[in-house]
Amino acid sequence: MAGSATGTGPEPFYLATADEVALFEHCHARRLAVMLKGPTGCGKTRFVEHMAHKLRVAGAPGVSGNLITVACHEDLTGSDLVGRYLIKGDETIWVDGPLTQAARHGAICYLDEIVEARQDTVVILHPLTDDRRLLPLEKAGTILEAAPGFQLVISYNPGYQHGLKDLKPSTRQRFVALEFGFPPPEVEAEIVRHEGGVDRHLAVALVRLTCRLRELGDRGLAEVPSTRLIVSTARLAASGIGIRAACAAALLGPLTDDPDLLAAMHDLLAATM
Ligand SMILES: Nc1ncnc2c1ncn2[C@@H]1O[C@H](COP(=O)(O)OP(=O)(O)OP(=O)(O)O)[C@@H](O)[C@H]1O
Ligand SMILES: [Mg+2]
Repeated sequence: MAGSATGTGPEPFYLATADEVALFEHCHARRLAVMLKGPTGCGKTRFVEHMAHKLRVAGAPGVSGNLITVACHEDLTGSDLVGRYLIKGDETIWVDGPLTQAARHGAICYLDEIVEARQDTVVILHPLTDDRRLLPLEKAGTILEAAPGFQLVISYNPGYQHGLKDLKPSTRQRFVALEFGFPPPEVEAEIVRHEGGVDRHLAVALVRLTCRLRELGDRGLAEVPSTRLIVSTARLAASGIGIRAACAAALLGPLTDDPDLLAAMHDLLAATM
């Protein structure tokens, strides 16, 4: 199967940065599909995991506890999403794909990095976003009506498109867009403290350094450091690696190979930590 199901266990930790939780809840209740836009490592996946858990606990109709996640790529076919006939012994049986499973059982289907999927795969989503929420299972010769609680959520990172890959307007305009950015410093420090296992003082210092590194975006740094990178750095520091070595390896190293930019970042590190 091309998807993975989650949804049980403790509530995934998520600190809200604006009104995204309420917006998502309203979208869910109104059966609106949602698009999460934002840079890598800013909390999109964690947010969906958190919301799926929250809605299940709240007993939203049809939510079975499942979040079905599909990592999109250019070889992903319609059959990978919808399902196919498989030969088992001397029988031919229909096996639901992740999208069909979610629609049938009223789960949230999260399609990560949707721009990676081909257009002929993406259009399969369209009828599910219309009022009747239908999923044609062409090969099985039936049409499935999505169960209550089913919701389509897609994510993408606008920075990666470079004009080559983008969603068509006919797809984009079927979704409510929730914009994600990096959290305000005090919220980000709390995330780093919680996720990285460091004390508040170190978390604040790491976020301060990261905010200064992000300003290098104006000087040609293509991808600025994400919350994910700060969390990894904090984890290294919490496990006993010296803070400068942890920053060099986990916060600066992944960002660029450009020697001038790296030198500028190391100067900032030396001046800050
Ligand atoms: N608001 C938040 N609350 C709690 N944790 C967060 C938050 N934002 C980011 N994180 C932390 O950052 C990590 C990376 O976030 P996540 O995997 O959700 O990023 P993403 O936006 O899905 O990135 P990508 O586009 O690369 O998939 C999480 O595992 C979590 O530790
Ligand atoms: Mg993600």
